[in-house]
Amino acid sequence: MKVNKFSDLIGAEITGIDLRLPADAATHLQLNAALVENVALVIRDQDFTPEQYLAAVSLFGDPMDQHFTQYALPDCPLVHEVSNRHKDKSGTRVKHGAGWHTDHTNHLRPPKYTSLFAVSLPSQGGDTAVVNMRAAYAALPGEIQQKLQGMKTVNVFQGSAAANYSGQSADAQAERKPEPVLQPLVRVHPDNGKKALYFHPVKTENIVGMTAVDTQALLNDLLEHSIKDEFIYRHQWRKGDMLIWDNRAAMHKAHFDYDPNEFRLLYRVLVRGELPIAA
Ligand SMILES: [Fe+2]
Repeated sequence: MKVNKFSDLIGAEITGIDLRLPADAATHLQLNAALVENVALVIRDQDFTPEQYLAAVSLFGDPMDQHFTQYALPDCPLVHEVSNRHKDKSGTRVKHGAGWHTDHTNHLRPPKYTSLFAVSLPSQGGDTAVVNMRAAYAALPGEIQQKLQGMKTVNVFQGSAAANYSGQSADAQAERKPEPVLQPLVRVHPDNGKKALYFHPVKTENIVGMTAVDTQALLNDLLEHSIKDEFIYRHQWRKGDMLIWDNRAAMHKAHFDYDPNEFRLLYRVLVRGELPIAA
């Protein structure tokens, strides 16, 4: 197995391994360490059935249930389809994940990793981008870092800013669930102790003690600061790619820049996380 870093800050490629075969303890450790260090890994040249893909992701932890149960594979429900053919009740194609976000922040224990596997790809475009929020935090001025310590976001299924984002389906709005979950705006990585910015712009109702309007202004500023080219790995899919990233130090987004008449299908698995640690 080879690990080839794409840059100092984010992204590495793994070659020379077939994750359908059992991995020895050293390989297992090396893969997990490479993921935490590089934030996003692309594991090339895999060929999985849904069950084999689930087993491969399980090398990184325990798979968990996902939102939008209508996308679960009936025979392997911890694997979901991410497809450009999904429609809402009005028949409009939905564009999940078009904006920068991190998954399932309205869970007490949000997923530590998200993984995707390419099944069918458009002839061009449809990249998945991941941004290193640890690097984004480290690049903030000290006084801003100080100001953000201890802040908590109030997370719901669809937050106050949801209507401002395109691609939100009417179904998703209707499914809005009220139980809010508090998450630290700055979280500490349990494996390396490093701090990262952590928020979901659409699932955040507000920051505790701040109005929704002021919250969105602050989150917009933080997002703008974070999405610098040098912090981003933009993954151009190839057949056989398995992508996995560390949600404790990343946000991600899907690019909808391809011909919608071409079919794009990925499988997705989420890996159970721990309670986020506040800075
Ligand atoms: Fe996502």
